[in-house]
Amino acid sequence: MTDAPTIVPQDTTESTDATQVKPMRVLAVANQKGGVGKTTTAINLGTALAAIGERVLIIDLDPQGNASTGLGIDRRDRNRSTYDVLVGEAALRDAIVTTSVPRLHIAPSTLDLAGLELEVSSARDRAVRLRNAIGRLNDGHAEGTDYTYVLVDCPPSLNLLTVNAMAASDAVLVPLQCEFFALEGLSQLLKTVEQVKEALNPRLSIHGIVLTMFDARNNLSSQVVADVREFMGSKVYDTVIPRNVRISEAPSYGKPVLVYDLKCAGSDAYLRLATEVIQRERELATH
Ligand SMILES: Nc1ncnc2c1ncn2[C@@H]1O[C@H](COP(=O)(O)OP(=O)(O)OP(=O)(O)O)[C@@H](O)[C@H]1O
Ligand SMILES: [Mg+2]
Repeated sequence: MTDAPTIVPQDTTESTDATQVKPMRVLAVANQKGGVGKTTTAINLGTALAAIGERVLIIDLDPQGNASTGLGIDRRDRNRSTYDVLVGEAALRDAIVTTSVPRLHIAPSTLDLAGLELEVSSARDRAVRLRNAIGRLNDGHAEGTDYTYVLVDCPPSLNLLTVNAMAASDAVLVPLQCEFFALEGLSQLLKTVEQVKEALNPRLSIHGIVLTMFDARNNLSSQVVADVREFMGSKVYDTVIPRNVRISEAPSYGKPVLVYDLKCAGSDAYLRLATEVIQRERELATH
């Protein structure tokens, strides 16, 4: 990363005050493997960050629309979607809807998004449309009411949608399922991050890797954690998300697990992950 100018010396003894003006951080939640916990992480990390006081926007960039459904946004209420934003027919602000969680908003998706790649294939700005939309997000908006975190939920593919997410982000957060072959495909993902960094977004970095669906009764799970930590070192968050039935039940009620069952192990893990994400942000800011 290039040196960012220091704006104000930080008093580290003070607690975080989310009402002060903070820069917006954009994180892409990406892994081309399907079903590894991207959407679950976007929803629940987003909810945990909002619970801590951050103002969070989730951008649903998957035509499946699982993040939108999981947050209880009915398909009939998706009047404007991320598809409209990426084809240039709506501003991102106009697509945003509130959720039942205070300070957590979402720009929902619809199935139309599946056709985007073909529709914009000859447009020169096709890979930076999301970045441009996010860049205009705070136009004319009161200072101090803008988002502090934007989480982009990517589809299970390294397609134009994921490239848009990476081109628009400060960093990539990679959920990795604790299963055999967990690391398979990771090098391809890291290569894509490098390519986007070189061609479109020099500031892009890997924020971290979060191990998901850890099963303590399964020796394989522990072996996967050890292997991934050996291969990726400090890039792996300390927090491991357990396999937890409450996490898998919550979306069918249109609720994040933290709302569905705050006391369960899954909620606890996502709260710890949020604390770690914020901690990493602080470390990045002081480097
Ligand atoms: N920690 C967990 N414990 C139990 N079930 C989980 C956990 N995390 C995710 N799941 C379940 O696993 C399935 C896949 O999770 P999720 O939809 O988050 O993955 P994804 O990577 O977004 O999938 P896709 O690639 O299809 O977008 C879902 O049914 C989800 O409820
Ligand atoms: Mg998903």
